[in-house]
Amino acid sequence: MQLDTKLIHGGPLLDKYTGSSSVPIYQASTFHQSQFAESQEFTYTRFGNPTRQALEETIACLEFAKYGYAFSSGMAAISAVLLNFSHGDHVVLCKDIYGGAYQLVTEMFPKYGIEYTFVDETDLSTWEKAIKENTKGFYIETPSNPLLTITDIKGVVKLAKQHNILTIIDNTFMTPIYQNPIKLGVDIVIHSATKFINGHSDVTAGLVVTSDEEIAKTIYKTQKMFGSMLDPYDCWLVLRGIKTMNIRMEKEVENAAFIAKELQKQRKVKAVYYPSLANHKGKDVHFAQASSGGAVLTFDLGSYENVKTFFENVTFPIVAVSLGGVESILSYPFTMSHAVIPEKERLDLGVTEGLIRLSCGIEDKHDLLNDLIKALDHVKSESCQKKRVI
Ligand SMILES: Cc1ncc(COP(=O)(O)O)c(C=O)c1O
Repeated sequence: MQLDTKLIHGGPLLDKYTGSSSVPIYQASTFHQSQFAESQEFTYTRFGNPTRQALEETIACLEFAKYGYAFSSGMAAISAVLLNFSHGDHVVLCKDIYGGAYQLVTEMFPKYGIEYTFVDETDLSTWEKAIKENTKGFYIETPSNPLLTITDIKGVVKLAKQHNILTIIDNTFMTPIYQNPIKLGVDIVIHSATKFINGHSDVTAGLVVTSDEEIAKTIYKTQKMFGSMLDPYDCWLVLRGIKTMNIRMEKEVENAAFIAKELQKQRKVKAVYYPSLANHKGKDVHFAQASSGGAVLTFDLGSYENVKTFFENVTFPIVAVSLGGVESILSYPFTMSHAVIPEKERLDLGVTEGLIRLSCGIEDKHDLLNDLIKALDHVKSESCQKKRVI
């Protein structure tokens, strides 16, 4: 089955009880048990719900996995996976990582006696050097948020297999459309479905998939114990979003590739980070494991003042936390997605005060570009320092 067909027919399209053309929202917390002492498919929504099951089967199919689970947010999904490490375990993670995941690791792991090390994700030797006797997990995010750095997924997986280490990836930026980590040997794939998968900035959701039965049992039990499952209405919205994901993303990626190239030509833009740009550091590795540069790019205006002027003069993109909507979204990682990282570490990571992240929507690319250029016109030229070579 080709991708476009899979997006419509990969999971259950029809309701098996009525044949309705969209799986209904089974808005029920519990289910009548005619044989009260016997188990049945659905008993209580925290344990399972037909609308959620449809979404879980769909994401498993799209990610070439056997099992899928839907959570109330990307962070709920990340927590369900990472909080299954145990006292004395050690986990190695990318240093350029989503701020919420960073906070979870640095604040919760010590409470549970779980050790962690952040490494330069772009250098395989740093993953190897970080391995200790008690290393149990590798956590990848590629392309990373917000600098779009690239990790060699196959390289990390190979290393992990040699040392019996579990591999986990946050695949939010690429979506199942452009990167399928299970096929590359990764054990657990996580998504913030709040972003491209739902795609309309009206739901928070998280997804986890795996093909390993034991891992699947653990994830299911955690979803049930934490009570962090996605509710039926939001499952239905995400299912609806998935049907148009490919055509939405095609346009969003086209816009991002165009804008990234055009912004590179602008004197007031110090640097542009986008995986398909010729000078992007991880470009070759990225295109060996993914089929698109994605719809997110980051650029540097050099200072807070320049960002302020730029944001005050931009019209079409909304300025907001998040990405992956049909509307273009500008974010300021320094005080938004990465604010929870202590300032010195943030700056060391390259999350500076001049950095802007743009998630391209489906608007006309020339309208978008003209709007960005118009806002750039207001930024004072002398306040932009010399162009940096990435
Ligand atoms: C890469 C990435 N992973 C995970 C998350 C967390 O997802 P959520 O906000 O749905 O909890 C985000 C949110 O911005 C993200 O960008």
